[in-house]
Amino acid sequence: MIKAKAGHQGRSNLRGEQHTSHADQDPKLPGSLTRRELLGASAPLLAVLTGALPLGLSAAAPPWARAAAAAAPSGSASGPIIPSPEVKAALDKALARAIPKAKTAVALRLVFHDAGTFSSPPGDGGLNASIQYELDRPENRGLKRGWRIVEQVRDDLRGTTAEGLATDADLVALAGAFAVRLCGGPDIPLALGRPVAAAASPDPPGRMPAEDFTAAQLKANFASKGFSVQEMVALSGAHTLGSKGFGDPTRFDNEYYQSLLRRPWTNKDDPMASMIGLPSDHVLPDDPECLPYIQQYAADQEAFFRDFSAAYVKLTSLGVPGWA
Ligand code: HEM
Repeated sequence: MIKAKAGHQGRSNLRGEQHTSHADQDPKLPGSLTRRELLGASAPLLAVLTGALPLGLSAAAPPWARAAAAAAPSGSASGPIIPSPEVKAALDKALARAIPKAKTAVALRLVFHDAGTFSSPPGDGGLNASIQYELDRPENRGLKRGWRIVEQVRDDLRGTTAEGLATDADLVALAGAFAVRLCGGPDIPLALGRPVAAAASPDPPGRMPAEDFTAAQLKANFASKGFSVQEMVALSGAHTLGSKGFGDPTRFDNEYYQSLLRRPWTNKDDPMASMIGLPSDHVLPDDPECLPYIQQYAADQEAFFRDFSAAYVKLTSLGVPGWA
């Protein structure tokens, strides 16, 4: 069943059906964490929360979160919801069933192709599960397999404490984060409550970057979604997963950046090496703005994990009213 605004349905379920053992729980948000627990949450998550929950903005909130909060009409967005440990466990169990290592790359790619339709202005598109109506676009070839993950997780959640709490858009975001963690990458906490697109409403076409883009075109494309060059370089590290030749296809690490610095595709003696990476990867180390971040992430995997996590939280908030 497709709901015009499943996010709202999810929130009303939160209020009406979910019970929790936390004695000091905010009664308006059963099933979610307390204010005290929220304040103990990780920095990226807190950044999202401070963009939309009525907690006030912390000084640590990034500019995009502050801008989003300022732009949100007051009282219009009920804000991100943090799953309780019980709900998170049910989500993780369903995600683990649906995402073996062999499906991690497609799960992560699905996130970018759902969220990457965002453009500001006009501010439409984004992570809203509309990818299900865009699967026949050439740039989305191979992603039907990814969307089936979302359907399987949704089905598997029936009868669990998490039923109805995560929208399909949330499941897209959660599946990508689960894939990253399963492959040894960072644990990226995510909030729930993303509304989904109206039935049969694809996002505007022509907003995804193409693999033959120059570095300037890539930067302009990511800037139109609100991303800095640093965030673009950090997100591009997602190509460490999958079959593009950046080390183990199911290991999320900083091999992508180390490989970009070696530029194996320039080795004319090794035809296999020329297969490594996409043209859009090859242009990055030749761009003077991108190169310092590539060098940093190649030398410091923790920095990559930290910056990827923050950019991923932002990616999975694109187009969500009041979030980003
Ligand atoms: C910088 C612009 C980007 C371009 C032009 C681009 C384009 C592509 C292309 C053409 C593929 C190959 C698809 C295939 O094998 O059929 C691919 C794979 C992939 N992309 Fe991107 N991508 C970009 C950024 C991103 C971002 C930001 C993410 C996620 C945060 C991402 C995640 C992935 C993943 C995980 C794969 C491997 C999929 C697999 O092997 O199944 N990409 N990308």
